[in-house]
Amino acid sequence: MMRANPFEPKIVAFCCHYCAYAAADLAGSMRLQYPTNIRIIRTPCTGKLEVEYFMRAFEYGADGVLVAGCEEGSCHFIEGNLMAKRRVNYARELLSESGLERKRLRMVNISAAMGTVFAETVKDMIETVRKLGPNPVRSDHVNVKQEIHR
Ligand code: FES
Repeated sequence: MMRANPFEPKIVAFCCHYCAYAAADLAGSMRLQYPTNIRIIRTPCTGKLEVEYFMRAFEYGADGVLVAGCEEGSCHFIEGNLMAKRRVNYARELLSESGLERKRLRMVNISAAMGTVFAETVKDMIETVRKLGPNPVRSDHVNVKQEIHR
């Protein structure tokens, strides 16, 4: 018997143009199976992403957020991915303070050739978030807004 309204996590993936975005494309062209409930947002470099972007994604209803940047030492903006790593870690703390699990936000470092790794990462992320359940934070969640505008 089919379950009524099975939870399908919504994932937002911020993908660096130089690596993860290409890897996602590759995954598509290799016809690797990964779930379609993922929204890919291309960024010129993960270093361009502010903490606020991650928090807003949750505020707008994402159940999980993936940040995918170039491998360490390979960022086209020198240390953009290291900056992103620090921001992701900081945002994970904010999530925790807001009552969301840190595991809902994750960063990976991959190259453009890693289509399979990208597909596996997305699958793993979706399974992790599926176990956690839906994002309880919505736009009316005061704590997240306060953190964003702090
Ligand atoms: Fe890809 Fe910076 S250029 S993470």
